[in-house]
Amino acid sequence: MYIREEIIDEIREKNDIVDVVSGYIKLTRHGANYFGLCPFHTEKSPSFSVSQSKQMFKCFGCGKGGNVFSFVSEYENITFPEAVKLLGEKVGVTIATEDQGEDKKKEYSLRARLIALNKEAATYYYKVLRDENVGKTGMDYFIKRGLSKEIMQKFGLGYAPVKSGLIKKLRDQGYTDEEMIASGIAVHNEKYGMSEKFWNRVIFPIMDARNRVLGFGGRVMGDGKPKYLNSPETVIFEKRKNLYGLNIARNAHKDHLIICEGYMDVIAMHQAGFDQAVASLGTALTIEHVRLISRMVKKVLLIYDSDNAGVTAALRAIPLCRQAGLACKVVDLSPCKDPDEFIGAHGAEEFQKRLDNAKNSVYFELDIKMRQFDLKDPDGESAFSKEVAMVIARMEDELERESYVKALSQRYNIPPQSLKREAMKLVAKNEGIELPEEMRTGMSSRRQEKEDALLTAQRYLLTALVDDPRIFPKVSDHVSPNDFEEGIVRDVAGVLFGQLKNGQANPAAIVDMYYESYDRDTVSRLFSSKYSGTMEGVDYENFISDLIVKIVGNRAASENTGDETEESDPIAGARLKADKRKDLKNLHIKL
Ligand code: UTP
Ligand code: MN
Repeated sequence: MYIREEIIDEIREKNDIVDVVSGYIKLTRHGANYFGLCPFHTEKSPSFSVSQSKQMFKCFGCGKGGNVFSFVSEYENITFPEAVKLLGEKVGVTIATEDQGEDKKKEYSLRARLIALNKEAATYYYKVLRDENVGKTGMDYFIKRGLSKEIMQKFGLGYAPVKSGLIKKLRDQGYTDEEMIASGIAVHNEKYGMSEKFWNRVIFPIMDARNRVLGFGGRVMGDGKPKYLNSPETVIFEKRKNLYGLNIARNAHKDHLIICEGYMDVIAMHQAGFDQAVASLGTALTIEHVRLISRMVKKVLLIYDSDNAGVTAALRAIPLCRQAGLACKVVDLSPCKDPDEFIGAHGAEEFQKRLDNAKNSVYFELDIKMRQFDLKDPDGESAFSKEVAMVIARMEDELERESYVKALSQRYNIPPQSLKREAMKLVAKNEGIELPEEMRTGMSSRRQEKEDALLTAQRYLLTALVDDPRIFPKVSDHVSPNDFEEGIVRDVAGVLFGQLKNGQANPAAIVDMYYESYDRDTVSRLFSSKYSGTMEGVDYENFISDLIVKIVGNRAASENTGDETEESDPIAGARLKADKRKDLKNLHIKL
């Protein structure tokens, strides 16, 4: 789907960002802006702001920002064109596609084709499972594993028979071999030609939050290997962004989700009434997964196998959850291997008890750490105390820190005063607080926002230009886009100056020039600086003048090429430079 730019503009203009965002979260007006609790991270007081005049949103807590399209696409976890389409439908704008941008168009239409193809394949497998002859093996297997017809239907379970006719069926429907390969349901081989990926396996369709089939998992019905075969990553299937069962669990309306490892575990839990269960798809939990979850609930229960691999997986998942603001606990099902086995052996009531007894993730982590130290040895003891202090130091909330000082000092028998002292030392030094790589990138706005004064001035000026276009003529007398930092800042300044020259700033349209969500955050930041100038009077004029001096002063300082006087006569050169600076000092913009 390639969408013409004018259409994008029209849809953006017809969807007021305040109306659209209000449909998702509660906003309260505060001066010129609207505020609410940020849906992209957890917070107790609102730092998420929406500007009607700019048609942009910005969270001062987590740094996320953008326009109405990026909000909807991030919130709904859909692509940009899908968000445009959704908002277009809302205001009655139909989307015409165009011949330009062949690559993009191809990509979008391939996505649509694969979604349709997968739906056909899922329907095929589904029907085969219910066929009394061909599907019997699969049906017997599921029944033997205790699944009801109802739950099989709910999860759209299917069966790929030994001799499957899926390729033929899809060809008859007009799908090409290339499309089948791109979807992952078929593979091509020099010797045998096209063959189906799944055969003689029971099939678990993997759906996204909107019930579109993204791919499949297929299990052998005995001890064959591999036990599960999964669709590869395709243009529509990204394992790091999708969770099995989320399409159902998102409607569970519980205050938490259960995260486990397996397809069968999710299904067994749902059948036993725990419809808040999801699984990561044969991969480790990612920051994308937990962020997706954190928009629905604020608490998770982790259930991993009790073997070493499971413990390692839980230890990796915990800090990710915490980073996304999710409170998390770890469920112990030992001696059973997984939820499916546990429920089969002990039933739903006992399972609920295990959920109720889930261990606080902080205790879980530290209990495991403790085993690595020899606590009878003073060195070991103090090293472990330091680990405990580290956990406290990482907590952002002071109340949380206070209560953990108390709880952990009791649990691990460490004097609270020394625990606190050690933790505070770590906080003050900001030392040793090692975060995994995936958390550092794209998340910690505080770290990223360490910018130098010059860039801050540039951001302030761009924001001021959008907030108050009156200043543009004066500003452009002195400053040009080339005075801005090379890269995204300069590009954005160039477009904005162009817009202002033609009459009107349209920051929300500039956001759409960027495809990556990280870039859109950066652009939003340029237009949403919190500056302290008042809008009227002398203060404001001074403030803007100072910004110009700072920005242009930087140019003057770095300019010394092409200045012949300077080369031939250093003293004259120096005097000229000083004059330039003096000129700047006297610069005062009158509005
Ligand atoms: P498990 O091996 O724990 O299987 O793998 P399970 O979920 O208990 O499956 P059953 O009960 O034997 O049917 C956990 C998950 O890891 C992924 C699957 O998502 C599986 O559900 N996995 C496992 C694979 O992708 N491939 C494999 O070969 C094995
Ligand atoms: Mn199992």
